[in-house]
Amino acid sequence: MPGTPIPTPPAVPFLGHVNTIDKDLPIRSLDLLARQYGEIYQLNVLGDKRIFVNSYALQNETSDEKRFAKKISSNLNQVRNAAGDGLFTARVPEEQNWYIAHRLLMPCFSAANVYGMTEDMMDIISQLTLKWERFGSKDVIDPASDFTRLTLDAISLCAMSFRLNSFYREDLHPFAHAMGDFLIESGKRANRPTIVQSMMSSTNAKYEEDQRILGQLVNQILEEHRAHPPAKQDILSVMLNGRDKETGLGLSDENIKNNLLTFLIAGHETTSGMLTFTVYYLLKNPATMRKLREEIDTLIGDRPMASKDVNKLPYLLAVLRESLRLGPTAPARSVAPLEDTTIGGKYFVEKGTSIIINTYNAHRDTAVWGEDAEVFKPERMLDGKFEALPPNAWQPFGFGTRGCIGRPFAWQEAQLALVTILQRFDLVMHDPTYELALKQTLTIKPHNFFIHALPRKDRSRVFALPSAGLRSERTALGSAQIASSGTVSADVAKLQPLYVLYGSNTGNSESFAQRLASDAPAHGFRASIGTLDSASEHLPKDGPLVIVTASFEGQPADNAAHFFEWLTNTEGNVLEGIKYAIFGCGNREWVKTYQRVPTLIDETFAERGATRLVERGEGDAGGAELFEAFDTWEDALWKKLSSTYATTSNAEAAGLNLKVVSPGTARASVLRQPDTALGTVVQNKVLTSPNAPPKRHLEFALPEGTTYRAGDYLAILPVNPERIVRRALARFGMSAEQEIELSTGGPTSLPVNKPVTVSSVLSGYVELSQPATTRDLDILLKTKNSESSLKALQALSSNYAENVFKKRLSVLDILEEHPDIDLPLSAFLQMLPSMRIRQYSISSSPLWNAQHVTLTISVLDAPALSGRTEPFLGVASTYLAGLRAGDRVQLSVRASNAAFHPPSDLNVPLVMMCAGSGLAPMRGFLQERAMQKQAGREVAKSLLFFGCRNPREDYLYGDAELKQWSDLGVVDVRPAFSRSTADSEGCQYVQDRVLFNKAEVIGAFLKGGKFFVCGSSKIANGVKQVLVEIIKESRHLDDEAALAAFDEMMNGRYATDIFE
Ligand SMILES: Cc1cc2nc3c(=O)[nH]c(=O)nc-3n(C[C@H](O)[C@H](O)[C@H](O)COP(=O)(O)OP(=O)(O)OC[C@H]3O[C@@H](n4cnc5c(N)ncnc54)[C@H](O)[C@@H]3O)c2cc1C
Ligand code: HEM
Ligand SMILES: Cc1cc2nc3c(=O)[nH]c(=O)nc-3n(C[C@H](O)[C@H](O)[C@H](O)COP(=O)(O)O)c2cc1C
Repeated sequence: MPGTPIPTPPAVPFLGHVNTIDKDLPIRSLDLLARQYGEIYQLNVLGDKRIFVNSYALQNETSDEKRFAKKISSNLNQVRNAAGDGLFTARVPEEQNWYIAHRLLMPCFSAANVYGMTEDMMDIISQLTLKWERFGSKDVIDPASDFTRLTLDAISLCAMSFRLNSFYREDLHPFAHAMGDFLIESGKRANRPTIVQSMMSSTNAKYEEDQRILGQLVNQILEEHRAHPPAKQDILSVMLNGRDKETGLGLSDENIKNNLLTFLIAGHETTSGMLTFTVYYLLKNPATMRKLREEIDTLIGDRPMASKDVNKLPYLLAVLRESLRLGPTAPARSVAPLEDTTIGGKYFVEKGTSIIINTYNAHRDTAVWGEDAEVFKPERMLDGKFEALPPNAWQPFGFGTRGCIGRPFAWQEAQLALVTILQRFDLVMHDPTYELALKQTLTIKPHNFFIHALPRKDRSRVFALPSAGLRSERTALGSAQIASSGTVSADVAKLQPLYVLYGSNTGNSESFAQRLASDAPAHGFRASIGTLDSASEHLPKDGPLVIVTASFEGQPADNAAHFFEWLTNTEGNVLEGIKYAIFGCGNREWVKTYQRVPTLIDETFAERGATRLVERGEGDAGGAELFEAFDTWEDALWKKLSSTYATTSNAEAAGLNLKVVSPGTARASVLRQPDTALGTVVQNKVLTSPNAPPKRHLEFALPEGTTYRAGDYLAILPVNPERIVRRALARFGMSAEQEIELSTGGPTSLPVNKPVTVSSVLSGYVELSQPATTRDLDILLKTKNSESSLKALQALSSNYAENVFKKRLSVLDILEEHPDIDLPLSAFLQMLPSMRIRQYSISSSPLWNAQHVTLTISVLDAPALSGRTEPFLGVASTYLAGLRAGDRVQLSVRASNAAFHPPSDLNVPLVMMCAGSGLAPMRGFLQERAMQKQAGREVAKSLLFFGCRNPREDYLYGDAELKQWSDLGVVDVRPAFSRSTADSEGCQYVQDRVLFNKAEVIGAFLKGGKFFVCGSSKIANGVKQVLVEIIKESRHLDDEAALAAFDEMMNGRYATDIFE
């Protein structure tokens, strides 16, 4: 019976789809294929047909035990090499041992029996909390590793009365290593031709050795148990002594060993993964964390969690269920039809064929979970909603007779562990910008995810972590110093404490906080610097708080999210006694939410009884008076602080000390970066003709483990253009190779206490082209210089806005103009803001290539506003333009605003409006849709309005991808050529073209279309105005009503991405 053919990706002869699956992270390939092919696809691996089902409907249908039974997949077949006919890998109905073991052991995992294991579980949990307490806040914790210790030790103690003592060893237990490697290799073997396998002698030897280590521990456990039977009856006792009621048989030694190993394997990887996912989602979702903490504090308080509390915390259960929905640690399972059958009403499947139920994707099916299926939302599991889910919608523990036997064990263990941890610690992400990456053995768990655990009790220390993950890799030299904000000289230690707290994503606020902290000793203060999150719930009261923070779409920065959530939910006068000041970084382009976060923090502090020291300061990063605004505010702040706390100034204390270490022959290798955050350039090509402003297309191979979605950003940590660095070197009469050593009494983001080349400091750590601030001018005025320079500086100061700010005159520009200003390099370095990351919209889709991303960038190379003869070069765009294939780059993927992704429903057309490099995310969206169409799926046709100069100069991808995708029927492109309107129906700008094609726009809207706008705020405003105009005209409304109608109609359907 043929049925509807099951879609299948292109394959190679003989090997079939072996190379279609990522060898290290199969789930990633399965997920991408599901997104491309939809509910079902088929792969052929070495002649073995495997059907993958990805939707709720097919998961539900194949969970019918009358029609389908568990199949020992080729992967599990390999796991049998160690676990044999243990419960998990047993072949049923052939292997009778499964029935005996199942009947004997099921009762051991009843809820009542598991309650009895509470004490042993708490014993191991307390070993984990003791470790975290002893190592302290600064220790970088790998939760996956510590949870592995916890769950492995718990299952072996509870089930086998055997202590592995994993918390008393530096490294994981050798069993855990051997088991991880064994499972990974088992998975790889399942997809390897036998001939290839037989030639991999060292891999095979390692595989054998791992099995030996596994067997050895199992033998040891068994021997010790027999030699010293425990007082209590544990699960191993049941295995050894129990008799099956039906057959009267017991378990053979062989089968006991297989089941011991099965419990050790199945009983810990999955649960440790669940705990790690849960901590990740809690840290990414501050409101959830707050609600959970409130539930724990209310229902359990300070007392230890007991068995009577298990399953009594509804919000905790919802959190765990939602974590397992998005992170099902056992992400797929295999079944096969008992007879020839048809699934999904049309796909014929022969008896015995492997069907892999892809729970990972079925758990994201919008048909059950809605359009926000990707969002972590425990509320969807609360108040009867979990119970009301359609059958088999939530299936992390498998199904039916072969479903998970250890579910009550895992469920109780996770509750005890989470409650105990959250009672004792505030958790903070080591890299607040971390985005979930997965690691896979037999199970999945978060990869490269690190946290800090700050004891909740008696806490008043704050804690600094660099805002950008990139920076933390990069400033490896300085990081210890950054984190140890308390390491100060004895003189400084006597000063009045002051706390500087920041919330920052791209580094402006952090840089200002650093400046405040390093200026503090000169004003008689000893500063501690920390992220706002590190001070959440524990604001220090023994000194003033100075806060510098930003807003992103009206929301706090990544390292201020928990603080903001906590603060905005406080009540009464809880902040009485605190004195504070706040400066906000923002951008007026975000009209409705300009300075929202700093404003709200300021208001809430005042409402909660804190005393404001000076009026809130604010800076507009878009207007570039940011630095000037900060300097002015800082001056006022120090005056107020000095008078309030009666401190004495000490100008000497402020300095950054610089010592020349070597004339510069040996290139410092100390700055070599770890490879983890490095991407590799694959391609860099120009997209424009020579007479147009240059735009480029760059392709990068991502660091291992990094994933992305179409619409996400790539954060780049650039280095300054060589030409500017050379200018600075020449001005200070230094050679590029010359080595210096910097030191300071307070915190700084410069590399300190290590010899570094002066060029590496100038290239990588500071911004050299920011306009000088009035404070910078004051410093220059006070520096030894000539009469003529003094006059020139006074002239600049007299009309700062016109003479300096508007022209974007930098300190370096001024120093070059006046060679006699005798400013030491150390003072120059101290004046400069630290290097910021820049973000770029990714212009590709992971369905094209999950390991590679492309960017579409404008290169900023224009006549300098300062009037200097040399052109002004943008830092990051110049850096990117100069890269060549093979270059390594500091980068990381950042998730974009949740709304700025293509909708998963392919019937929804996209209406995209952009100009220039604003095309970037749109290109990624269209590439994704094209891949889906090529996979045979129905895809609604989208509309792209694209503005550029003319079809011959800068019509990016016009003759290439845009044409291909138009031919494929994925998109209709409607260009607006500003300098060749004859080629674009007389339309000059994007908004003109939108108006011209309004019938199509309305048509797409009526089909449920989603609107995306990208580029400068000018374009965003222009497009919005035209859309409002169209509504006004078609509905005969006045201006105000049209605007209101726009807001209503576009609610949830209109997303903008503005390039600052
Ligand atoms: C979310 C987001 C996504 C983005 N995506 C993209 C993308 O896909 N593609 C892309 O190309 N860009 C994108 N950008 C912009 C990008 O991040 C950078 O801002 C841009 O490349 C400029 O950075 P730069 O380091 O080269 O310039 P910088 O060194 O930062 O210089 C820019 C500054 O110089 C000033 N300036 C401009 N011209 C002159 C002049 N002639 N003389 C003196 N000063 C001048 C500007 O006012 C600005 O303040 C995006 C930005 C954001 C926020
Ligand atoms: C969050 C934690 C856990 C998850 C997500 C999980 C998930 C699963 C899944 C999906 C299956 C079915 C596999 C299939 O159909 O091939 C399964 C089976 C099994 N699990 Fe778990 N498990 C967890 C914890 C545990 C624990 C703690 C134990 C032991 C103490 C355990 C022991 C087993 C066993 C023995 C089987 C095989 C059952 C059989 O086929 O008879 N699991 N588990
Ligand atoms: C995606 C994005 C969204 C933003 N949203 C806002 C906003 O809602 N309100 C605002 O005042 N500024 C907004 N800004 C501007 C930032 O707050 C500003 O760039 C600030 O200097 C960043 O500070 P940081 O470098 O310390 O992270 C936004 C910037 C970006 C890139």
